[in-house]
Amino acid sequence: MASMRLGFVCLGYSCNAARSASQAIGAGLVEAYWKVFPDGESYLRIDGDLGDGVAVAVFTGFPEPSRRVVEGLLLVEALRGLGARGVIAAPLYLAYSRQDKRFLRGEPISVRAVLRGLGAAGADALLTVDIHKEYSLEWFPGPCLNVSPAPAFAEALRGIVEESKRTYVLAPDRGAFPRAKRLGELLGAPFDYLEKTRDRVTGEVTVRPKTLDARGATVIIVDDIVSTGGTLAKAARLLLEQGAEKVYAAITHCLLVGNAVEKLEESGIEKLFCANTVEPRWSKARVVDIGPLVAEAARKLAERLYSYEQEAPRT
Ligand code: R5P
Repeated sequence: MASMRLGFVCLGYSCNAARSASQAIGAGLVEAYWKVFPDGESYLRIDGDLGDGVAVAVFTGFPEPSRRVVEGLLLVEALRGLGARGVIAAPLYLAYSRQDKRFLRGEPISVRAVLRGLGAAGADALLTVDIHKEYSLEWFPGPCLNVSPAPAFAEALRGIVEESKRTYVLAPDRGAFPRAKRLGELLGAPFDYLEKTRDRVTGEVTVRPKTLDARGATVIIVDDIVSTGGTLAKAARLLLEQGAEKVYAAITHCLLVGNAVEKLEESGIEKLFCANTVEPRWSKARVVDIGPLVAEAARKLAERLYSYEQEAPRT
């Protein structure tokens, strides 16, 4: 099968990963021009030539998640206007992904609204990076791929694992356990998650790894998002109190809002590894490039779109 020509267009910080993705597969890249009108509306323009192949609209959901979502819609719409043969929407950090249920009556399933919106704006396919829950992808009306950053984190963390006597990969809760499993398997390290238990007699709550003993171990905490830093700081503190030698974290989307950095500084965490899906504003954060993984996923999605075209019913 002939391979489909790909071109990337990006906005703001997402251009960091988009540049690396485009270089990884020798595809074109256009950085979209954007501004905010005096009344607060967003404006953008794609001033460049992406050809008539499949265009990958790369954007990200932080800071100002609501504005970033609207810009993503506008980017997809603009690409349609330029005559792209297919459009892949690629929100590196998908804002609103945590509201994936009606937790209370009367609430929206926000991620469903965002994904349907991208489809309605003209996106044929969707590429996400470590989406909060993969089942949300079902709400996008087309082919989807969710990129795991684990291979890039494994490469960045390998030195730490080699220097440590014992390394464990831990998820801060059961929900994030598949992430710990994936990274642990790539690093050849045991993996587990932190479990909260309550003593039925005293009522005392303890949080500790479900099966592993953290004493003397180097622990890598893995999660999709660090927002206020509460979850991560608490996990790091607990593990150090339980005798862990060093605690590192590998978090895909480092939002670090409010006083998150202060909380992490105080928690005793050694270093934070963050994917380049959003800009981590902390000097201790080490940025891990997921561009080549995005490129590979975009290539696969483009091939899939192309094969759909080939399979179109004859008239
Ligand atoms: C929750 O389900 C997510 O996976 C993260 O654990 C959470 O968003 C972290 O939030 P924070 O940093 O505010 O504790």
